[in-house]
Order: sequence, then structure tokens, then C-alpha cells
Amino acid sequence: MSSLLLFLFLFLTPSSPLEFRYHNNREIQQYLVEINASNPDISHLYSIGPSVRGQELWVLALGLSPHRHTVGIPEFKYVANMHGNEVLGRVLLLQLIDDFVRGYRNNEDWSVKLLNSTRIHILPTMNPDGFDESDTNCLFSQGRANYNGVDLNRNFPDAFAGLRKQPQLEESRREAEVRAVIGWLRMESFVLSANLHGGALVASYPYDNSNGGSELVGGASVSPDDDVFNHLAKVYSHNHASMHHGEQCRDSGPFPEGVTNGYLWYAISGGMQDYNYVWAQCLELTLEVSCCKFPPENQLPALWTENRKSLLAFIMQIHLGVKGRVFDGSGVPVQNAVVEVKGRSNMCPFRTDKHGEYYRLLLPGEYVFTVTHPGHKVLTETLNVPHGPDQYSAMKHDFMLRQIPATTVSPQANLTKANSTEANLTPSCNYTLNLDAGASRSSWTGLCVSLGLVVLLSLVS
Ligand SMILES: *[C@@H]1O[C@H](CO)[C@@H](O)[C@H](O)[C@H]1NC(C)=O
Ligand SMILES: *[C@@H]1O[C@H](CO)[C@@H](O)[C@H](O)[C@H]1NC(C)=O
Ligand SMILES: *[C@@H]1O[C@H](CO)[C@@H](O)[C@H](O)[C@H]1NC(C)=O
Ligand SMILES: *[C@@H]1O[C@H](CO)[C@@H](O)[C@H](O)[C@H]1NC(C)=O
Ligand SMILES: *[C@@H]1O[C@H](CO)[C@@H](O)[C@H](O)[C@H]1NC(C)=O
Ligand SMILES: [Zn+2]
Repeated sequence: MSSLLLFLFLFLTPSSPLEFRYHNNREIQQYLVEINASNPDISHLYSIGPSVRGQELWVLALGLSPHRHTVGIPEFKYVANMHGNEVLGRVLLLQLIDDFVRGYRNNEDWSVKLLNSTRIHILPTMNPDGFDESDTNCLFSQGRANYNGVDLNRNFPDAFAGLRKQPQLEESRREAEVRAVIGWLRMESFVLSANLHGGALVASYPYDNSNGGSELVGGASVSPDDDVFNHLAKVYSHNHASMHHGEQCRDSGPFPEGVTNGYLWYAISGGMQDYNYVWAQCLELTLEVSCCKFPPENQLPALWTENRKSLLAFIMQIHLGVKGRVFDGSGVPVQNAVVEVKGRSNMCPFRTDKHGEYYRLLLPGEYVFTVTHPGHKVLTETLNVPHGPDQYSAMKHDFMLRQIPATTVSPQANLTKANSTEANLTPSCNYTLNLDAGASRSSWTGLCVSLGLVVLLSLVS
């Protein structure tokens, strides 16, 4: 877009509300560029990479320090339109951006406080190519997949599908859009996320898959943070105009209180929410926000009203639990220290990020934390955790480790370390993805199927 056009666009639409309609991919890009240009103090526009057909996957970050992470400020994200024909999420996220910016400019408390306490990343479309192929049918699945005909919500590495024990990530099997998201998760230490779909009305939470182990309880695949996930899902459904009634759509449900364990609904392998949770320690929900995958445009204002409060209340939940840093014996923040909460054996233990920070979403209560770092005594502390969201901050707590003098290391210390969760899980929880390899994109081009022929009646969403 030329600067003249940008100027005219800015000039002609100074602050009129965003129209309720389906903006195409080009218009979304144009809108984000405009928001970024006119709000440099609270927004930062970046791309996490191109789609198969080369359309940039634009993310708008909002916050009082939008360009980079600030210690103590958790990173949140919303992703929409991963299934190209499930389109309400695109509209909701653009309206959310509009709402945040307008609220901040009008000095409204909710917007100022959220943007001062949280960095919010918004990806309105994860599958722009699929969107271009989709029709406006409520139930059909044309446009669901990406340009290569691959369902992106089946293309992530899956901890239950043997990958945990075989750390090699088969890059050629990952689509461009999935690689972009995996790279994004490496770039930022996200704490909470949701991924917006359509075709049902329910908030679904991990796990989405199982291999029949101890996680399988009464038909659900239960994660160690099930209490937190259940709470998060209910925050969405109960703040939504009708989701909590649980029986809205023709072909899905009923869902008690409008929430469900993903696996209990139907199992999927290679889903994005399990990947976020297991491998990136980011708690993610799958939000099904409309019975119709492509609602008529005249319904958009009402659908926004039904979802607005939920979208904001869900972001606030990033302030649950405890956050802080881990310092080594010399008072330096340490990366990769393992921060565990008793009774929650996460498949891949939660670790401090490059700033030495950890974030643990927990409901109010008493928790025993164990912090482990090589060369340091295992630190165990009991913390009383209050309810953080009302304060726009989780409880702050730093852990000070004590170094083990080299001469006093006993064989017992070695043994303990060798048996710890860290030692057992590190190899399988830490694999690297060569994100610079551009090979897979070109090799896929020849396999591309004509999406126009793939019109399937689909009940899945
Ligand atoms: C966002 O706005 C800033 C400040 O005007 C500008 O420097 C930057 O290039 C813009 N980014 C994009 C992707 O347009
Ligand atoms: C942002 O939060 C900090 C405390 O975390 C507070 O001191 C400051 O006044 C807040 N700024 C605004 C604009 O609310
Ligand atoms: C135990 O730890 C010491 C000091 O870190 C190291 O030199 C030694 O090789 C370790 N022994 C085993 C069996 O790992
Ligand atoms: C550590 O693991 C070894 C081998 O699996 C086992 O024999 C030993 O009892 C374990 N020690 C502890 C303290 O759990
Ligand atoms: C993961 O692997 C990379 C590359 O092999 C290494 O640099 C990093 O320290 C590892 N992280 C952990 C937590 O072991
Ligand atoms: Zn979907």
C-alpha cells in the first residue's frame, strides 16, 4: 500500500468505528497497518511468517510496552481463523483491537489497566489461504484446510503420538502456518492463549488427545492443570451471553455449562492447544464461538456483543496464580530452572524463560513449589496464592537458590538429580526446529490439491 493511500485512509476514517463485515485478507492487513501507524505508543505490528501462498501472518501486539517483553508483564495471545472457513473469530479479534485502542484513547479504565499489565498479541487469521477458498456455508468445510489441503489443527507435534520419546521433529510434515506458530512460541514466552473456531458453542480445554495412559479418566483426557483449565473455560462460557446454557447448536453438545474436555468431545492428534500446553507451557483453550461457521453479516454486531465480555474476562485470567524470577547463588536470574508445583506433574516441566521468569496460573489456595537448577540446592517453598485478576497482577514471588559448593557434592546428590523429573524429561521436551529451512514450502507445491473439489459436509469444527 502506498503512503498516499495510507494517508487517504487515515484521513478519511479518522476514528469511525470498525465496520461490521467480513474484511478480506488485504483489508485486514491494511487495517492493522493503519492501527499500528496511528498508535505507535501501544501497538506493534509484526509477521510470524508467510502462509503457503505467501500471505503474511500478521500479529498486532498491544500493550504499554508493545515492542518487547517487560519483566513481570505476562504475554497473552488470541488466534483466529486457523480453519479458513470458521470466520467469526476474525471479526471478533478486529473488533477487540478497535475496542482496546478506542478505550485507551478515551482513557477508559478497563483498557488502560489491561494494557498496562498485559501484552496482548492478536493473530486475526492463521489461515488466510483457506479463507480465500472458503464458501459462506454454515456447515460445510470448504476452506477449512490450508492451501496444501492440510488441517492445521492436526499438524502440530503431538506428545501422545510417540513424539515425546522421539524428539526428532519431522519438519517436512509441518505446514508453513504451523512452523510460523511454533517459531512464535519460541520467540515469546506466552502464558495464556485461546484459539477461536466456529461450528459449535463451547469452550474446550486440554487434553485433546490421549494414548490410554493414566490421563484417561471417565472418557476425558485430564491434564495436571485440569482445575485451572476448567475454571478458564467457565470464565469464557459464563461471561458469554448464552454459551453457558450448553445446548445451543443443532449437531453438537450438550455441553454442561458450555465447557468440555477436548478429548471427551472428540479426540484429535496434532492439535494446537495440546502443543501450546505441553511444549510451550502456555495454557490454551479452543473457543467455539458460533454455531454457524460463516454467520450472515447482519448477525455480526450481536455476535460481537455476545462475546465481548468473555474475550476481556478471559484475558484477565492471565493474572491468576504466581509469577516471579529465579535467581542463582550469585543473585543472577537463571534460565531453564525447573519450577514445579506439587501434585502437578507436567509432561514437560515448566521452566524459567530467558529473563529467569516463571508464570504459574493457579486458583487461590496453598501450593508447594519446588525449584531445581543444576549446581544448586533444591528449593522447596509453600505459597499462599490469592486471586490475582481483580488486581491485574498475579502474586509476585522470587526464588533465591543456594549454590552447592563444588567440594561438598555427594554421590547422593548426583543420584537425586539423575532421578528428577528434569533429568527424565529434558531430552524429549527439548528439540529444536530449523525454522530457517525453506525447503518444505517448495516441495509441497507439487502436492497441492485443488481445494475447489474438496467440499465435504463436516460436523467437526
Ligand atoms: C508500525 O509503525 C511504526 C511506527 O510508525 C513503523 O516504524 C513500523 O514500520 C510499522 N510497522 C509495520 C509492519 O507497518
Ligand atoms: C501501570 O502500572 C503501574 C504498576 O504496575 C503503576 O505504577 C502505573 O501508574 C500504571 N500506569 C497506568 C497508566 O495505569
Ligand atoms: C557427580 O557429580 C560430580 C560433580 O558434579 C561429577 O564430577 C561426577 O562425575 C558425578 N558422578 C556421576 C556418577 O554422575
Ligand atoms: C533412581 O533410579 C534408579 C534406576 O531407575 C533406581 O534404581 C533408584 O532406586 C532410583 N532412586 C531414587 C532415589 O528414586
Ligand atoms: C535445548 O537444546 C538447545 C540446543 O541443543 C540447548 O542450547 C538448550 O540449552 C537446551 N535447553 C534445555 C532446557 O536443555
Ligand atoms: Zn475449527
